[in-house]
Amino acid sequence: MSEKKVLVVLGATGTQGGAVLRYLVRHQPNTFTLRGITRNPASQASRDVQALGIDIVKADNDDLASLKAALSGATHVFANTDSNQHIFHAMKYPEVLGSGQTPLTYARDIEMQQGRNIVEALAATGSLERVVWSTLASPAKWSNGKYVNVTMFDAKEAIGDLFWAEEKLKGKVSMVIVGFYLTNALKMPELQAPKKQLDGVYELALLSSGDVPYPHADVDADLGSWVSALFEAEAGITLVGASEMLTWKEWLQLWASRNGVQARYRRAPVDESATAILKAVQEEFQFVEEYGLAGGNPEAIYPEEVCHIRS
Ligand SMILES: NC(=O)c1ccc[n+]([C@@H]2O[C@H](COP(=O)([O-])OP(=O)(O)OC[C@H]3O[C@@H](n4cnc5c(N)ncnc54)[C@H](OP(=O)(O)O)[C@@H]3O)[C@@H](O)[C@H]2O)c1
Repeated sequence: MSEKKVLVVLGATGTQGGAVLRYLVRHQPNTFTLRGITRNPASQASRDVQALGIDIVKADNDDLASLKAALSGATHVFANTDSNQHIFHAMKYPEVLGSGQTPLTYARDIEMQQGRNIVEALAATGSLERVVWSTLASPAKWSNGKYVNVTMFDAKEAIGDLFWAEEKLKGKVSMVIVGFYLTNALKMPELQAPKKQLDGVYELALLSSGDVPYPHADVDADLGSWVSALFEAEAGITLVGASEMLTWKEWLQLWASRNGVQARYRRAPVDESATAILKAVQEEFQFVEEYGLAGGNPEAIYPEEVCHIRS
C-alpha cells in the first residue's frame, strides 16, 4: 500500500484554509493525511477542524521556527496570509504605527515578513513536493502606479514573487487568485451589501459601472477543487478562482430575487475622505474594473481552462 501524502494547510481555521480542508476530507480521504495550522489549537474554530479528523498543529506566521516545525514531513501545502486583521488593528491602535507608516503600509510590512517566513520554512522542508500560494495581483504594479492603496493585494503578489524566485521551490509552486467571496455581503456588509433606502428599495453602491464582469468565488464549494487540480497538474500555474463571472448588476438581481426584494444599482463616487480600509476597497473595485482581478497577467488562467491542465 502506498504511503499517504501529508498536506498542510496554513490558515486552517479561516475561510480559505477551512474550505480546502473540508473539500479534501470529503473528496480525497485516502490521498492525504491532513494537518491544519492555527495559532490557537484550543479555539472553537480549531476544534471544529479537529472534529473532521484533521490534525491541528500550533504555529504562527510571525515565528519562523514554529512554521518550520509545523511543516515537518509536508509533501503538499496550501498557504495563505491574512491582511485585514493588521489594517483594522492599526486603525484601532494608531500608536503601533512607525514614523511615516499608515495602517495600510503597516499591514503590508507585517504580511511581507510573514510571507518571507513561509517561503523560508517551505524551502527548508525537504519532503515538499507541491505548494499552492493564495495570491492576488498587485494594483500598484499592473496599473503602473495609478492605484497605490491596495497594499494587501500588492503584498500578496510580492510574496508570490518570493515563491517563484526561491531555488528550492522551483517546479513546486502554483498559485490561485481567489475572486470576490460570495459571502462578503454577509460577512462585510459595510463594504459590499445592498442597503435599504427610504423608498423600501435596496441599493448597492460600488465603485464600478456595474456592467463589467468580476470573478466571484464560492470559496466553500470550489476552492478545494481548484487547489486539488493545481496539485495534480504541472506546477507553474496561476489560476483565477472564479466560480462565476458576474457584473455587479447581475449579482444584485440574483441577490434581490433570492431575498424577494426590489433592488437598484448605483455607481458610487470616489470618497476622498474614506478611511484606510475603505480607500483600499475603493481602489480594489476600480482596479478590477479596469485591469481585471489578475491585472492583465497573461499567464493567469480561468477555471474553464482547468480541464486543459488536468492530465
Ligand atoms: N474577501 C474576499 O473577497 C477575498 C478575496 C480574495 C482574497 N482575499 C484575501 O484572503 C485573505 C484572508 O483569508 P481568509 O478569508 O481565509 O481569512 P480568515 O477567514 O479571516 O482567516 C484567517 C486565517 O489566518 C490564520 N492566521 C491569521 N494570522 C495568523 C498568523 N500570524 N499565523 C498563523 N495563522 C494566522 C487564522 O488562524 P488562527 O486565528 O486560528 O490562528 C485563520 O485561519 C486576506 O488577506 C484577503 O486579502 C479575500
